[in-house]
Amino acid sequence: MISLRTNRLWLREHRLEDLKPLRAMLSDPALTYYLPSLRHETQEETARYLEGCLRDGAAYPRLRYNLAVCDVNGALVGSVGLHLIDGDPDDGHYGLGFFIQRDRWNQGYAAEAVGAALDCIFARGAARVSASALAENLASRRVLEKCGFVQEGLLRRHTWHDGAWRDCAVYGRLKDESEGGCDPCFEK
Ligand SMILES: CC(C)(COP(=O)(O)OP(=O)(O)OC[C@H]1O[C@@H](n2cnc3c(N)ncnc32)[C@H](O)[C@@H]1OP(=O)(O)O)[C@@H](O)C(=O)NCCC(=O)NCCS
Repeated sequence: MISLRTNRLWLREHRLEDLKPLRAMLSDPALTYYLPSLRHETQEETARYLEGCLRDGAAYPRLRYNLAVCDVNGALVGSVGLHLIDGDPDDGHYGLGFFIQRDRWNQGYAAEAVGAALDCIFARGAARVSASALAENLASRRVLEKCGFVQEGLLRRHTWHDGAWRDCAVYGRLKDESEGGCDPCFEK
């Protein structure tokens, strides 16, 4: 079980009671515009997604982390996900994804949450974390830059999105570029 505290946030494993706030976020068209695979029409879809998060959290070896991001009052305000792409879990290459509830945007929450999740996965031995964003998704790209990612390329007309081919910016951060800063607290 993972539990990470930052100045303003608490990242923890998902729980069944996350369903209602998750449902609100994943049915928000503005939040899911750049996350089509998480655009849920029904509560059942979100329930299945949450069940998957709970299953992944209990799996050994752990290949996926979907961490609930909570504010100082314990309210769910977003999520940070990491999944193993290649290699062994304790020396692997992970992919990163994240979202924050719309009325909390532009308050630094995503960068704070992603920073903590990165500290945690690098402390667990990860060799590399990759992320990508549509080139036009400037908020997401800014979060990656604030978290020390290096842009490694721009894949032209890579992704079919909302009726058009879009460019996709790809980013990476390596273990030895890890800066620390958060004090990950592991609860086993
Ligand atoms: C991307 C997302 C997670 C950012 O969350 P957040 O908590 O607002 O992020 P932060 O506040 O840490 O940082 C956002 C940065 O983007 C900047 N930004 C926001 N909108 C912008 C825009 N249209 N153009 C340029 N910069 C923009 C903000 O100014 C801020 O940078 P700053 O701290 O230098 O001022 C949030 O917008 C979201 O959930 N979007 C939908 C899901 C998504 O796109 N996820 C990523 C998929 S790759």
